Amino acid sequence: MRHLIAGNWKMNGLAAEATALAEAVAQGASAVSADLVVCPPATVLARVAQSLAGTPVGVGGQDCNAAASGAHTGDIAAAMLRDCGATWVILGHSERRADHHETDDMVRQKVRAATEHGLVPIVCVGETEAQRQAGRHAETVGWQIAGSLPKDFAGVLAYEPIWAIGTGRTPTEAEVAEMHGFIRGELRRQLGAAGQAVRILYGGSVKPANAAALMALPEVGGALVGGASLMAADFLGIARAAGALSKPGAGG
Ligand code: 13P
Repeated sequence: MRHLIAGNWKMNGLAAEATALAEAVAQGASAVSADLVVCPPATVLARVAQSLAGTPVGVGGQDCNAAASGAHTGDIAAAMLRDCGATWVILGHSERRADHHETDDMVRQKVRAATEHGLVPIVCVGETEAQRQAGRHAETVGWQIAGSLPKDFAGVLAYEPIWAIGTGRTPTEAEVAEMHGFIRGELRRQLGAAGQAVRILYGGSVKPANAAALMALPEVGGALVGGASLMAADFLGIARAAGALSKPGAGG
């Protein structure tokens, strides 16, 4: 399967720079053999989706409410994301779990809403540094998967150790391989055969320099990229590193 490289722009990008970034990503997209998605802030989603129409680059939201519509000031429904041209949505990012007190239960309801409205959910899980130091990283992520995914989940899972986000630190290759193997086992155990089809992304300080090594690890099906997705050259560099691995014969 091709790697999926998703860019989480977080709360970055006014209209002009967002459009320029999207166009630069689109320009390089046809030369890489990885699936690409960008997730801009909601305010520029429609504009970015318009400029990416007809290109291979997909567009996603960064969150949606679990309800179809109604009295949720400031929130965005899955149908609204779809209406803007999004076909993906990041759910349960650790920044939303921390800033907006999102629980596994809430994330699971959002996943349902997203799926019902034709969006592919990218559900984020990951341990804190304290949980890892206490040797509780696998247990933590196991519980997050059990709580955040409905039994009929058909989306993408992103493993993002919180201590690796925006810090320039990553787990060792052995640690990433261990967690992705554990996550695959949990997905199979919790979802049955469908658990085998879920792509598992790694996220947390992915850069062009470390992408090839991370993307080559077993059960790593792509990357969820924060900071490096704000520069087209870096985002495409990561995609090229991943794409080189998908080509038969390349990378050994
Ligand atoms: P960085 O790539 O900036 O570490 O962010 C990762 C992330 O949170 C993507 O969702």
